[in-house]
Amino acid sequence: MTELVVHDAAEIVVGPRDTGSGNGNDSSSNTGSDKDTGSVQTERDAALAVEDGVVVAVGGTDEVCREYPPESAERAVDATGKTVLPGFVDPHTHALFAGDRSDEFVARIEGKTYTEIMEAGGGIVVTVEAVRETGDEELVENLCAQLDVMLAHGTTTAEVKSGYGLDTETECRMLDVIRRADERHPVDLVPTFMGAHVVPEGVEGEEYVTNVVEEQIPAVAEQGVAEFCDVFCEEGVFDVEQSRRILEAGVEHGLKAKIHAEEFSRIGGAQLAAELGAVSADHLLAATAEDVNALVDAGVVPTLLPATAFSLDEPYADARRFLDAGAPVALGSDLNPSCFVHSAGFVVSLACFRMNMSPEEALLGATANAARAIDRTDGTGTLQTGAAADLTVFDVPRARYVPYNAGTNRVETVVKDGTVVVETGHSVQRDGHTGGESP
Ligand code: NIG
Ligand code: FE
Repeated sequence: MTELVVHDAAEIVVGPRDTGSGNGNDSSSNTGSDKDTGSVQTERDAALAVEDGVVVAVGGTDEVCREYPPESAERAVDATGKTVLPGFVDPHTHALFAGDRSDEFVARIEGKTYTEIMEAGGGIVVTVEAVRETGDEELVENLCAQLDVMLAHGTTTAEVKSGYGLDTETECRMLDVIRRADERHPVDLVPTFMGAHVVPEGVEGEEYVTNVVEEQIPAVAEQGVAEFCDVFCEEGVFDVEQSRRILEAGVEHGLKAKIHAEEFSRIGGAQLAAELGAVSADHLLAATAEDVNALVDAGVVPTLLPATAFSLDEPYADARRFLDAGAPVALGSDLNPSCFVHSAGFVVSLACFRMNMSPEEALLGATANAARAIDRTDGTGTLQTGAAADLTVFDVPRARYVPYNAGTNRVETVVKDGTVVVETGHSVQRDGHTGGESP
């Protein structure tokens, strides 16, 4: 039986027009009903049908509803005047943390930089201390609470990094917490090991890198939860050679490479990502034209995090340079205690308003291209037939209103694998239980 029919939508964004091409700038025409010009396949007056959690039809309402009548579906959603997007994919978060660093937010307003705060004993190490002192169940609840907010803003898949443990035991504990939250929460999680987030206090850099390579990575691989290995390649944190040792050790143990590259200073992380064939290189605020070309040639997905530039008052990454070079630019939130942004909608607004991305480019960046940044090539981030039915109904008449209506959550309904998990902005399902209002 048909599980779900969403019908009479003003617009349904299906996905990139040409899934094989980089940024989808290719404007080759598709057959079928009413399509937008440009990089995104959009259906107008549209409907979508779901069976077994998967999109089985998407197109004009008349056509889809003839084959899948809403009245005989288990569930019908009338999307008259509304817009349906693939669920947002957030390819870069540090969503698992504990403690309170709101004082750093205030310190930054008073003029302190992220680096100054870090040098004065603030930043990542504060969260590390808090995470080490927090029990597993509380950490699972912390993560689920962040995921509730992300889901209420339309995120249905998220990468989550460890990196606030900085020792084998706590790093493995964090990864296990991510695994448990994934089981409990509708948002699908992609776990990344990031023991190389910062050098812990009282340890010398090389010694710590050796610990990550010889102890942490083998233990994480043995545990079998993490899919990626990430490193903060930055002046005063891990240099290029150290980052190389870590990422190569990760790859040897079956962990795909990601890298925080050229965030504050350009030290060669992007070139390293290209050389190693990393899945993504993230941040890239200080990347040069040479870096852009190297990443494009190597097929590394540039993952830009405008909410970080916003939160830390840094210059934004040069998104146009990547797009003009044909790169599949992905967008992420970088949710963490120094960038307290859960909303993918706010991220796409920043991408449009501050990085000159078009609404189509930004929405692709937060859906299909974000899926590429976490190596999901199964249709995640699209609503093509055969893709998981992860979608969001926005109470706006066109997709471009999602970034246009900056800072406002217009999400009405969120569907994960064919099941309604947020309704009129209120969570109705978490772990199968009927919940109260979303936070
Ligand atoms: O991606 N750059 C390093 N890591 C995070 C910040 C984490 C934190 O401040 O807790 C980032 O910006
Ligand atoms: Fe990060």
